[in-house]
Amino acid sequence: MQNFTFHNPTRIHFGRGQIRRIDREIPADARVMLAFGGGSIKTNGVHEQVRAALGNRHVVEFGGIEANPDVATVERAIALVRAEKVDFLLAVGGGSVLDGVKLVAAAALLDVDPWAVVLGNVKPSKVLPIGSVMTLPATGSEMNGFSVISRRATEEKRSFGSPLLFPQFSILDPETTFSLPPRQIANGVVDAFVHVIEQYLTYPADAPLQDRFAEGILQTLVEIGPKTLADPTDYDARATFVWSATLALNGLIAAGVPEDWATHSIGHELTALHGLDHGQTLAVVLPALLDHQRDSKRAKLIQFAERLWGIREGSDAARIAAGIARMRAFFESMGVPTRLSDYGLTAAVAPVVAHRLAERGAVALGERKDVTPAAVEAILTQ
Ligand code: NZQ
Ligand code: ZN
Repeated sequence: MQNFTFHNPTRIHFGRGQIRRIDREIPADARVMLAFGGGSIKTNGVHEQVRAALGNRHVVEFGGIEANPDVATVERAIALVRAEKVDFLLAVGGGSVLDGVKLVAAAALLDVDPWAVVLGNVKPSKVLPIGSVMTLPATGSEMNGFSVISRRATEEKRSFGSPLLFPQFSILDPETTFSLPPRQIANGVVDAFVHVIEQYLTYPADAPLQDRFAEGILQTLVEIGPKTLADPTDYDARATFVWSATLALNGLIAAGVPEDWATHSIGHELTALHGLDHGQTLAVVLPALLDHQRDSKRAKLIQFAERLWGIREGSDAARIAAGIARMRAFFESMGVPTRLSDYGLTAAVAPVVAHRLAERGAVALGERKDVTPAAVEAILTQ
């Protein structure tokens, strides 16, 4: 096992009716910015519950944080924070709202272009405190210090992180997610699944406990994904999905093991260039990437095939291929297509994505740094 430091400071309030806990989490004299997205919280009752919990606090609202949050939107939120002397940020919505708020938290106290923070050229040493009410299980943003921000003007999408950007608290009430459309549920299941894979399907690191945590989350997603898609108001299935998504990217399963993240890097380019949903990009890239990396990931691919899908017969190559095929079929069964052509794209995107990654020095992706631009091109050409 590799050395590690693990610290997760986010307090989770999980379950029905937990939104009222906001009252105890945010100081009574705080000047709060309630940030949200395109309006789902206004139609599913979440906005009302949050306002009730906030009581008489001074609240300014900032709506319109879009999916794949744009830095230009974040800049407008920062202007409002400064004008209103906001000192507490409350994100209510999906991962995009929270990620946008994380950049507000990081940049509002600095006199710099927020994009410099996204690029990692400026590291915040002090940030505004954040709380969240997460209405979409997928990203894990509710219990991690990462944020992914897009810049529409230059068709870029980049991630950054800081230990200062963990939310102080996150409310996870599965009932707030009942209003999600099937496409977002399916995307969320794929996203959480792929987060686990990025931290698990690398090479053996003498970390059997982390492996079994990871396999437990994967098995649970395979079991619960179709169920929660078919019956969105089944509380117990949805609660299991919500908690699975959080644990998939809160640092626990990454402790002491190598990590990949090439699928995410390639996927972000597809979103930046062609507007695919985050989960859709992962469903396209991961099966092709695992096939391309089948030699360097051999041992874990065999373990994955056996422990997740029960595949024990046949040659190594046959078992690996069967495991990847089962995973692809799982994504498809959730309603997330796995081929570029399903999204109206062709292999012509392959050299463009490879070139864009290379241009900014992303030439050695993956746990073994062997996902080169040529490999990226081959993966997207499959
Ligand atoms: O904007 P509203 O009206 O709220 O609608 C949203 C949005 O259209 C809707 N939605 C959210 N909760 C709802 C709901 N609709 C009905 N009922 C509800 N309860 O869902 C749509 C998508 O929302 P979004 O926040 O974009 O989705 P998600 O949570 O999947 O976040 C995706 C973003 O997170 C980034 C992705 O790259 C992408 O930008 N990621 C962030 C990570 C992190 N911070 O750790 C890690 C991930 O790998 C990921 O990259
Ligand atoms: Zn993701």
